[in-house]
Amino acid sequence: MAKFLVEGRRTLGGKVRINGAKNSALKLMVAALLGQGKFTLENVPEITDVKTMAGVLRALGADVRFSSGRMELTVSSVEGQTPEALVKSMRASVQVMGPLLARLGWARVAKPGGCNIGSRPLDIHLAGFEQMGASIDVEGDMFVARAPRLHGADITFRYPSVGATENIMMAATMAKGRTVIRNAAREPEIIDIQEFLNRMGARVKGAGTPVITIDGVPELGSADYPVIPDRIEAGTYLLAFLITGGSGTIENVVPEHIAPLLQVVSAMGAELDVQENSVRVVSPSRLKACQVSTGPYPGFPTDLQPQLVALATQAWGSSIVVEEVFDRRFGYTSELQKLGAQIEVRKRAIIIDGPNELQGVKLAAGDLRAGAALVLGALAAEGESVVQGVEHIDRGYEAMELRLQSLGGHVVRIEE
Ligand code: UD1
Repeated sequence: MAKFLVEGRRTLGGKVRINGAKNSALKLMVAALLGQGKFTLENVPEITDVKTMAGVLRALGADVRFSSGRMELTVSSVEGQTPEALVKSMRASVQVMGPLLARLGWARVAKPGGCNIGSRPLDIHLAGFEQMGASIDVEGDMFVARAPRLHGADITFRYPSVGATENIMMAATMAKGRTVIRNAAREPEIIDIQEFLNRMGARVKGAGTPVITIDGVPELGSADYPVIPDRIEAGTYLLAFLITGGSGTIENVVPEHIAPLLQVVSAMGAELDVQENSVRVVSPSRLKACQVSTGPYPGFPTDLQPQLVALATQAWGSSIVVEEVFDRRFGYTSELQKLGAQIEVRKRAIIIDGPNELQGVKLAAGDLRAGAALVLGALAAEGESVVQGVEHIDRGYEAMELRLQSLGGHVVRIEE
């Protein structure tokens, strides 16, 4: 267990280089279970979710070596029984279901845990597998999926779920015939997985559009692949510059991937210089309030909603941020209130009356992005704050305190 001590009101500046995307790296690791041989992934972030997923893969029979952002995976034979404790600790583990079903014809996966941000059913994943010929049983705390050989299907999602799109895409790579996913999620990470699967020998097209088509092949090999930059990490540091009234450069980012955020902060008054792989941001003398709804890509990412709300406490006027993706992603607002934020939650809408003078206090992070929002709030507050629950932050941000220190922030990790 660890906590951060944050001394607020220090203006951040400088350059920060963004790591590979958590939500891509985790899925590329899982996709390797479909193949055979040696894989090398570059730009893999050193975060605990990646280490947890490495544990899941090892338990399934893969050899995993990981150091300095480079992961080598060797896959030969694979098991179908997932380690319950690891899967429960990280929702993304449910993504092993598609590859295991495709490869082995069965999978036993514990009902997953993960961030405490709302109900997160799996009906879209499971209905897709069923359309491809799988039977799904619930045995206690486990989902058991069986399908001697999956077949292609024309599947229309009721909602563009990221995880379901990836799971069905992976399952379909070795199914008999053609699978079409309609109303598929369009996140950049899905394009990354398509490219990786195709390098392994799969035939996937359409990722990035609402219709993805997969033609099954008998088997897949291996691939080397660089993970795309993490758009949520990029957005978090961009917001960190702004919340301290600072200016700085985000390096190794695909600006198009953070376009929804750039539009919002630009409307709030931030000055932006967008280059091919970097974005420089300069704070305005006065931030303006914002009105934003989250949504599936290319909408505003729900994973930046808490951090944007933290920024809105420093903006002049009434901001409204509506959470349309998850039903309970508001837990952190009561912690921001402890800092002095004027926030009210009405159904799915968060109303922030800014600007608020924040005062350092003791805070507890309840999930990953909430933790990031609390650190941002603490950076803007007068005096010292303590942010507990840093293990949540470590799931998705590599050494956040060191990156903030390098930008001039006063953030210290205390191991408890
Ligand atoms: C992924 C990301 C997460 C991000 C989210 C939305 C990973 C590891 N996680 O999560 O960081 O916040 O996308 O961009 O990549 N839903 C159902 N039934 C289903 C599946 C989803 O009702 O079968 C609902 C969920 O409860 C939620 C919404 O759909 O309300 C979005 O979920 P989904 O897109 O599936 O998110 P994840 O893949 O879990």
